[in-house]
Amino acid sequence: MKGYITDPAAPGGLRLADDLPEPKPAANELLVEVRAYSINRGELFLLKMRPDGWRPGQDLAGVVVRGAADGSGPAAGIRVVGVVDWECWAERVAVPSHLAVPLADHVSFEEAASLPVAGITAVRAVRIGESLLGRRILVTGATGGVGQFAMQLAAAGGANVTGLVVGPEREAEARAYGAHHVVTSLDDDSLGTFDLILDGIGGQVLTDAVHRLNPGGTAVTYGTLGGPAPLGLLDFPRGPSCKLVPLFHGYPEETRGEDLAVLVGLVAGGQVKPLLGLVRDWKDTLEVLDALRERRVRGKAVLTRSGADA
Ligand SMILES: NC(=O)c1ccc[n+]([C@@H]2O[C@H](COP(=O)([O-])OP(=O)(O)OC[C@H]3O[C@@H](n4cnc5c(N)ncnc54)[C@H](OP(=O)(O)O)[C@@H]3O)[C@@H](O)[C@H]2O)c1
Repeated sequence: MKGYITDPAAPGGLRLADDLPEPKPAANELLVEVRAYSINRGELFLLKMRPDGWRPGQDLAGVVVRGAADGSGPAAGIRVVGVVDWECWAERVAVPSHLAVPLADHVSFEEAASLPVAGITAVRAVRIGESLLGRRILVTGATGGVGQFAMQLAAAGGANVTGLVVGPEREAEARAYGAHHVVTSLDDDSLGTFDLILDGIGGQVLTDAVHRLNPGGTAVTYGTLGGPAPLGLLDFPRGPSCKLVPLFHGYPEETRGEDLAVLVGLVAGGQVKPLLGLVRDWKDTLEVLDALRERRVRGKAVLTRSGADA
């Protein structure tokens, strides 16, 4: 079977092998033929951290080749989106049945593959805000993989959404994906204050954002692209206690599929539209990893397996 594997002797430390063992699904796992996968920024770090011979890949969409032996989950022939811990940058992968969600016919494999890790993170981050109606929400990294989903979900829930982007060239895109206001800096008192902050950047950005929290407000931190945040008691507003909530998308594990299904439903209904900044054939995975590393991707980067490969 073909699939990507880390190899220190290969350019970029990763190669497309053609001699990988076929997946051996457990009783509660489906065998899925992968048609598309997306790459998460966190996978850039995993590729460096994992031992040689590791097989990456978390977000996938494809067709069930064989249903789970225990009868759980979607049956053979059904188009699905799924999330795994590794090994889906390959022709086929075993997917736990509770982490595979059936797709409506009009949702493409490319759109579906963009959803799992970034989308589940966004669903869970937005939910931490509980009631969204009329609330002021700040999303940092607004046109990033997680940010674009978070903005759309918050807007769909009735929030007033402000997106923080790196420059004015991102403004139109942020507005198209749910922002009511777009800013390039938090150093502006006319911005006002926020009930909920969703942040994947950390560093000074998170500290500046916390300065703009309403008393009793909540800041969710799910990433540290800008390094650790210098943050202490006096950065928070006086008054009812604020919350700073760390979020790891994988927990709780057992409801990850349910949260993915929420997003799949919103995409099928047209309320959420994935921002696909780069879609390429899976043979270009190394180039797409470079593009992600060099911050040349907006929204999600998706790789497809089609034509002779599929
Ligand atoms: N906790 C979890 O479970 C979880 C899940 C998913 C992601 N994450 C983490 O969350 C972070 C964001 O993930 P993602 O997939 O959304 O990444 P992404 O697609 O690369 O998006 C990041 C966004 O933040 C902007 N940005 C990057 N560095 C910045 C900086 N130093 N200052 C200001 N803006 C900056 C980027 O702007 P440009 O467009 O200019 O690059 C982009 O819009 C990453 O650290 C990732 O590892 C964590």
